[in-house]
Amino acid sequence: MMRYIKMLEEKDLSLNRAMIPLGSCTMKLNAAAEMMPLSWSKFAGMHPFVPADQAQGYLEMIRDIEHQLAVITGFAGCSLQPNSGAFGEYSGLTVIRNYHIANGQPQRNVCLIPASAHGTNPASAAKAGMTVVVVKCNDKGDVDIDDLKAKAEQYKDTLSCLMITYPSTHGAFEEGILDIINIIHSVGALVYMDGANMNAQVGLTSPGHMGADVCHLNLHKTFAMPHGGGGPGVGPICVSQKLVDFLPTHPVVEVGGKKGNTMAAAPYGSAYLLPITYGYLLMLGGEGLTDVTKHAILNANYLRARLQKYYKILYTNRNGMCGHEMIVDFNEFSLKVGVGDIAKRLMDYGFHAPTVAFPVHNTLMVEPTESEPLSEMDRFCDAMIAIRQEIDDIMTGKSDEKNNPIANAPHTMQVVCADEWDRPYSRQKAAFPQPHCEKYWPTISKIDDAYGDRNLQAVWAE
Ligand SMILES: Cc1ncc(COP(=O)(O)O)c(C=O)c1O
Repeated sequence: MMRYIKMLEEKDLSLNRAMIPLGSCTMKLNAAAEMMPLSWSKFAGMHPFVPADQAQGYLEMIRDIEHQLAVITGFAGCSLQPNSGAFGEYSGLTVIRNYHIANGQPQRNVCLIPASAHGTNPASAAKAGMTVVVVKCNDKGDVDIDDLKAKAEQYKDTLSCLMITYPSTHGAFEEGILDIINIIHSVGALVYMDGANMNAQVGLTSPGHMGADVCHLNLHKTFAMPHGGGGPGVGPICVSQKLVDFLPTHPVVEVGGKKGNTMAAAPYGSAYLLPITYGYLLMLGGEGLTDVTKHAILNANYLRARLQKYYKILYTNRNGMCGHEMIVDFNEFSLKVGVGDIAKRLMDYGFHAPTVAFPVHNTLMVEPTESEPLSEMDRFCDAMIAIRQEIDDIMTGKSDEKNNPIANAPHTMQVVCADEWDRPYSRQKAAFPQPHCEKYWPTISKIDDAYGDRNLQAVWAE
């Protein structure tokens, strides 16, 4: 079993090896010190329904985290019950729905969502029983304020809320955010701020400070819990004073507001993971957390400044700056070079791919986070710049359109070490395209993505 698990681990490129620049996903290299309490029996051996007098330490930690997250978000209350960001969205929207019902306005069930939103936003709104209406974005990637005003007016009697991500999933601080929030409040609706990009806000601003009513946080992004592969996570929600009564409750353990719903089976959700976030909060402190935000934005802008000479960067602000992440556009090459192939070529250079084709088709969304040092960011830029040369070779006909290092990426050890090599480029170019390249050896060459998605294969190693 141990060998099997190790074999699986070795198939994966993790953060202890290289940067995982997944835009919107905030993949930080978490400190080992934050992870240590997970192996302490006092945390690991606790049942979620243990009598409260046997879990005083846990409860003290939970209360302190709730308090610190409320301060960070500028809100009055917090619930740690939701187990993921999407679950937080659903819980936060349920709070909003219950608030309108309690105020005698059950007809308020329209949720405005900008076209740039993460896919979980409309899915959560639909799940919370709301009707989703999409708000257009302008060519700068910001919310189209005229369209927002028109829709707020059109749905003024049935509008429940706006769901907005800040900085937006286009990687830029939306300049009109305060106007946007005012427009929604002026028709009696509330503002849900998706806090997945909180890594660009902590200590500098907050959803509460801007006037939003609810937000979720992804502790498994901004607050240091490692994540990937679908979980587990913690997606707490924080709310303004008027919504505190509607925070998630529990039938067995007394938590949340008097008028809330139970959202998860356990009263404090994935409580076992909380020591990681607690360690992160306590070890950094207020100043440290603010520095994290500044470094995250600085790192992203360092990458932008180096890469923009080689690639088009979408949606920067009027000073040409991005937030804590950026979208690199490959549309101009798309007739001959697929963005998915470029993502796979990065494995040959030793990197995990950035986020592919979200939120814009044929793009890569890059987020370095504060945890990457200059040397690692330079290694990534060097790889991207070398790939640009490979793209140019294809575009100009110097490389074969179908048989080139990008189209054939990633290169496995079996392919590179085989006796036969009939490709029009060298083995060295395939596997060690740069002198300082830390090649990652994937266990399989490229497969047809769409075919693979539709045809599940189970292969057993004997
Ligand atoms: C902007 C945004 N909102 C919501 C989510 C959902 O969070 P989770 O993956 O924890 O459900 C994500 C995660 O990818 C996100 O990037």
